[in-house]
Amino acid sequence: METIVKKIERKALKKEDFTEAVKILRSGGLVAFPTETVYGLGGDALDASAAEKIYAAKGRPSDNPLIVHISSKEALSVLAKDIPAAAWELADRFWPGPLTMILKKSSIVPDQTTGGLPTVAIRMPSDPVARMLIEESGLYLAAPSANASGRPSTTRAEHVYEDLAGRIGLILDGGEATIGLESTIVDLSGEKPLILRPGFLSKEDFLGILPEMEYDPAVVARTAQKEIAAKAPGMKYRHYAPKGKLVIYEGEREAVAAAVNRAVEEKTAGGFSCAVLAAQESGAAYTCPNVKIVGMREREETIAAHLFDVLRSFDEEGVEFIFSESFSDGHLGEAIMNRLRKAAGYQVVKV
Ligand code: TXA
Ligand code: MG
Repeated sequence: METIVKKIERKALKKEDFTEAVKILRSGGLVAFPTETVYGLGGDALDASAAEKIYAAKGRPSDNPLIVHISSKEALSVLAKDIPAAAWELADRFWPGPLTMILKKSSIVPDQTTGGLPTVAIRMPSDPVARMLIEESGLYLAAPSANASGRPSTTRAEHVYEDLAGRIGLILDGGEATIGLESTIVDLSGEKPLILRPGFLSKEDFLGILPEMEYDPAVVARTAQKEIAAKAPGMKYRHYAPKGKLVIYEGEREAVAAAVNRAVEEKTAGGFSCAVLAAQESGAAYTCPNVKIVGMREREETIAAHLFDVLRSFDEEGVEFIFSESFSDGHLGEAIMNRLRKAAGYQVVKV
């Protein structure tokens, strides 16, 4: 299958931009599209065979459910049942935006879309390209992140092409995803509200509406503890990992730089190619010739926005050892470190 990449001028959206995409989606095919978080790989959420195509294209296990993307809040009552009042409040407060809610599914949602679960994940994205695609297609779009299973999520159309060319019909290229980390997932289907995946929105953002909100224990785990079963099936799989070995260094800034410099020296002497993942503020402290600046601690949203891009660049360069700073401060810290810890297989050195 040939994969067409169609550039979209997001400041001047035209209906014609979506004609081909809508045709593909309505005939059961797949289209990758930008959202404000990461790129998604969309198919008709109510068509079981489209869901199967999504799993196949990503190489994703089919027990790992998909998020259904909608363009109006009313769709909640079509896709879900027994909707608690808090869900409507969260929708009013955070939609459109980077929030996914897990609710009991209605019978029209096929089991393939929800990986066999009795619940469904629903999100209303704010990205205008995503919104217009959903509206023009007249469908609900099941869309996981548009990466090959196990690789970092995609924040640019080029990443999607790298992973999925030949497997999907069309990529809508709307430029860089602004947030860069996937949506915050909140489970409202159980007794207590739980955050299954941290994102741009963190626990504090929800306390006004749901003071009892907690993180799923698997989210805040500092090690890959088998006994803590992740409630979001996708969070149990190996994820985001670059091909090289990634280790996170935690501690006071100068001590981290000294320890990383020693480790790089040792590995380089052993003939391995090394790289350092650092913030702008401390990048100059490293002697390694390959230092990737992911963003600024002062503006942590820049770290979130570029994390996946930087992780992917290590693979392109064939880097064998990656030494990373820790970015756990600030509002986005939980989300950034959740992805980075997984990418590192929970390898953390405290200095
Ligand atoms: O920002 C995002 O959420 C992006 C964009 C494209 O919207 N999508 C995304 O989808 O990250 P994906 O499939 O890569 O991650 C969805 C996560 C998986 O970990 C999955 O297991 C979990 O959501 N999930 C989906 N439905 C669920 C359900 N019913 N119960 C528990 N977890 C669910
Ligand atoms: Mg994903």
